[in-house]
Amino acid sequence: MIKGIRGMNDLLPQDTRIWQFLEAQIREVVSAYTYEEIRTPILEKTEIFARGIGEATDIVEKEMYTFADRNGDSLTMRPEGTAGTVRACLEHGLLHNQEQRLWYMGPVFRYERPQKGRYRQFHQFGVEVFGLEGPDVDAEIILLTARLWKRLGIADNLELHINSLGSDEARAGYRRALVDYFSAHQTDLDEDSRRRLSTNPLRILDSKNPDMQELIAGAPVLLDYLDEVSARHFEELKQLLAAANISFVVNPRLVRGLDYYNRTVFEWITDSLGAQGSVCGGGRYDGLVELLGGKATSGVGFGMGMERVVLMLEAMGIGDRLPNTVDAYLVVAGAEAEMAKLRLAEQIRDQIPSIRLRMHAGGGSIKKQIKRADKSGARWAVIVGDDEWRAGQVTVKDLRSQTGQATVPLAELAQHMMGAERD
Ligand code: HAM
Repeated sequence: MIKGIRGMNDLLPQDTRIWQFLEAQIREVVSAYTYEEIRTPILEKTEIFARGIGEATDIVEKEMYTFADRNGDSLTMRPEGTAGTVRACLEHGLLHNQEQRLWYMGPVFRYERPQKGRYRQFHQFGVEVFGLEGPDVDAEIILLTARLWKRLGIADNLELHINSLGSDEARAGYRRALVDYFSAHQTDLDEDSRRRLSTNPLRILDSKNPDMQELIAGAPVLLDYLDEVSARHFEELKQLLAAANISFVVNPRLVRGLDYYNRTVFEWITDSLGAQGSVCGGGRYDGLVELLGGKATSGVGFGMGMERVVLMLEAMGIGDRLPNTVDAYLVVAGAEAEMAKLRLAEQIRDQIPSIRLRMHAGGGSIKKQIKRADKSGARWAVIVGDDEWRAGQVTVKDLRSQTGQATVPLAELAQHMMGAERD
């Protein structure tokens, strides 16, 4: 038997019910903020990510699914959504003197070591806002996520961490200070960090190695190196969040794993998922559009790991709380009714467009059919024998209460069901 690929999950019906619930909540929230959907291809030219995310990042160095297509072009399965969104916006002229508030949802790919909450194909919901440079939109997208957590019922398990990376120049100054500091402690660095010292010293701060924590704790702090404009931006953001009743932690060690960020960065963290605690991360990337060939345009956004949110929803038992997928189950008895059942099922669906009706297939006794009806989770069994079919009637049995059954004209089926619902 050939198995699926490690780190790439099948979502079975019991899973997709939860995913559909999450997706529906997301759609409602983004629409409440008037964000518009963008869909870009899974494959992009490798250059988009190498340039956009940064050559010296973990993603570009060792996590991308990159291959040559039949022309020999180097293509990559998107490891995130931002770079491709910028590429598409530039290509279609969406950024020229315009604001854009966009969202997307879909699979992304990273060759990481799979474990709980970390996969090789996973799904991100993300938003990207272009052409607005104030901290008010930074706050807006954070509020959007906060609203989503509230709707999903997971707000209490998430903590907001924020930081500012400042301007490119401020970060360059900080980078020099970090390199000086860590160079003075070369012998205490682990192998990864020694390599990063020349390629990406900020990432040393992200190290999970316990032996490195003391050294990291003593390192210079980015917030002390902020330029004045970025410092003001960050101050205003904090005030806006406080005024909107959003609690946050200023985490000066939060640097994020992609190179395009400047000023605001943030992450929503949970301790309910073990090591993979980052559920949603994002920030400002005012230099990315220019880097990918456009005119300087500010940008800010986030990506949310949908698998991680689903794990949180499962942990609180969401599966049992979602509504059934079957409302009514059609049971037939007799040769004439058997012949008529497809037509009858269509009539019922015409009459009650919202009904989710499962038609019994495969024959068998009424008893067997009722058993199936019960197992389907349906509230109702709609039973039709030859006599009822001829008379234009159906027998309705409430499978979830002891109220017995009633025979009603087909035209009154909806009324009967709704009446019972009110009782
Ligand atoms: P990121 O932090 O690399 O940011 O990913 C965003 C989220 O995707 C993470 O917080 C996490 O929940 C989820 N995630 C990352 N890797 C995995 C994995 N291997 N398995 C499961 N979930 C994972 C970005 O991708 C940026 N594009 C976000 C952004 C948008 N910034 C500005 N705009």
